[in-house]
Amino acid sequence: MACENCNCSNMYNENIFMPKEAVIVRAEMATATEKHFTLKWADDSPNYFEPGQFVEASLFGYGEIPIGFASSPTRTKTFDLIIRVVGRVSGALHKLDKGDTMLLRGPLGKGFPMDKLRGQNILVVAGGIGLCPTRSLIQYIMDRREEFKQFNLFYGARSADEQLFLDDLANWRKSDDVNYHETVDRTSENWRGNVGVITTLFQKTPISQDTRVIICGPPIMYKFVLIELDKLGIPHENVYVDLERRMKCGIGKCGHCQINDKYVCTDGPVFQYSQIEKLEEAF
Ligand code: FES
Repeated sequence: MACENCNCSNMYNENIFMPKEAVIVRAEMATATEKHFTLKWADDSPNYFEPGQFVEASLFGYGEIPIGFASSPTRTKTFDLIIRVVGRVSGALHKLDKGDTMLLRGPLGKGFPMDKLRGQNILVVAGGIGLCPTRSLIQYIMDRREEFKQFNLFYGARSADEQLFLDDLANWRKSDDVNYHETVDRTSENWRGNVGVITTLFQKTPISQDTRVIICGPPIMYKFVLIELDKLGIPHENVYVDLERRMKCGIGKCGHCQINDKYVCTDGPVFQYSQIEKLEEAF
């Protein structure tokens, strides 16, 4: 059953225009530009979003910005948002700290197609802050590991200083539940791992042709990852791309996210690649 307001897959979203209060239970800088907020709903309601969905985060007097959930709904008591400081609204949100309140509208949009991913081999390819929305899927798979087959995860960052979720990375490196590979574009004194663009990670491990692939990262990354997937013979209908960077209002009203007949905010932000591959503007 879809939401009546915007036809997203969220059946609980009774009023998408009404922000709801969330209390910050933890706030710390994750990198020089990203702040990691852990929140809980002020009315103590449990989490009711799907991996890949997003909220519009706001402060009175400043406006609002779309932010993807960076944690899984399988973690029921709190949820994570990572906010990169890029402008007035994100700058104001960055000033918030533990105990402060954030206003959130949502959850919004269509997330990852869990019904199509369950029971399959999975590859997640995340570049830069693309790890934030995909972390909601990664945590989901790790929490319900028996529901999925082989799980490969590729993560690329510009440098070690820009890597996010350092505790997660440490766990994934030693976990038997995920075949994790990482790379940085630029090496540094203490970096001992792979150096190079994210497509170099395809040489590290075999990826079977029946794998379901999820891609989220900077625009340039999609093109080169999709070339690698074509070389592997992975059908385009088994590839999902998260395009949430294009959104503004989040509810199909402003047209900011429109790509031909698609609205990223309500038809996505997660799309089956075969449905949008002809839309040149999408990447
Ligand atoms: S973000 Fe406004 S129409 Fe999609």
